[in-house]
Amino acid sequence: MPQIVDPFQRNITYLRVSVTDRCDLRCQYCMAERMNFMPKTELLTIEELTRICANFVSLGVKKIRVTGGEPLTRRNIISFFEQLSQLQKTHTLEEIMVTTNATHLSQYAQRLFECGVKRVNVSLDTLDPDKFKEMTRGGNLLKVLKGIEDAQLCGLKVKINVVVLKNFNDQDIAELIIWAHKKNMDITLIEVMPMGDIGSDRINQYVPLSVIKDNLAERFTLTPIDFRTSGPARYDYVEETGGRLGFITPLTHNFCTQCNRVRLTCSGQLYMCLGQSDKADLKAIIRQGGSDTDIQNAIKKAIQLKPKGHDFTITHPGQKPSLERHMSHTGG
Ligand code: 5AD
Ligand code: SF4
Repeated sequence: MPQIVDPFQRNITYLRVSVTDRCDLRCQYCMAERMNFMPKTELLTIEELTRICANFVSLGVKKIRVTGGEPLTRRNIISFFEQLSQLQKTHTLEEIMVTTNATHLSQYAQRLFECGVKRVNVSLDTLDPDKFKEMTRGGNLLKVLKGIEDAQLCGLKVKINVVVLKNFNDQDIAELIIWAHKKNMDITLIEVMPMGDIGSDRINQYVPLSVIKDNLAERFTLTPIDFRTSGPARYDYVEETGGRLGFITPLTHNFCTQCNRVRLTCSGQLYMCLGQSDKADLKAIIRQGGSDTDIQNAIKKAIQLKPKGHDFTITHPGQKPSLERHMSHTGG
């Protein structure tokens, strides 16, 4: 079997693909109120996205996650999933996953399921409609809750992702856990990462998850378990609810030694790490008429540049973001 192994002996089996940098929401930790999005001509077409994905699968990638921005706002997105579904039927692609804010999930859940998607990650940081509206700068919580419900009815397994933010939702985590577990969903907490200028200070948002976990441990019995999905979360079992609780801790506990993934942006740049700037321009190769071998050679060469890890820090007021680009550019 083909394999791509990086300089630190990590086998790259997981590709995350951002299909758009746009989103119908404006979460305060993710975007500034006014964002400059990429001109549409800069975006890879669905055919170009598919071609790059197919080459990754030829090189040994087993899992592809479609992200954004909000992937379900991209026009014709289902045709991309149909193409991925072909790669799953005829090649060695094992799993297609999606990360979404769920505002368009009611509309697309059935089609996604038919294309072989089994798992969906939904980003949801609060169950309070007013707070949701404030956090997303205008979003409608009911639409999201309906999207989640419809996804489950269609047979999709839903996981909830919560970015924990100081003085915003850090007191509401227990409620979110109870809600998710009652609906049979895993839930993962995420530390906010200093990516992109958001028009305010990260130190006012950041809470270490170690603090949250200590608080939760007063109320719940948490037992570490071996359960792993393809991502970096470490899980505990919550005895009182019978569900799983994940922790993604880029700031307090770096998990890079086991990183198995690379990221393709919507404009065809391959980033080796969410938190570093090494990249390869795959769009240029495609648009200059490169062959599949050219694409694969460029991917192999780029992966030799995969850094050991990120070095995000949030330590003082007025600190510049560790990275200028927003999460919505590279894909979460
Ligand atoms: N830090 C942590 N998580 C973020 N997300 C977006 N921006 C950030 C950030 N700066 C999350 C979203 C979503 C996932 C794709 O990334 O909430 O769950
Ligand atoms: Fe959109 Fe997700 Fe960013 Fe919120 S976090 S603005 S839903 S891309």
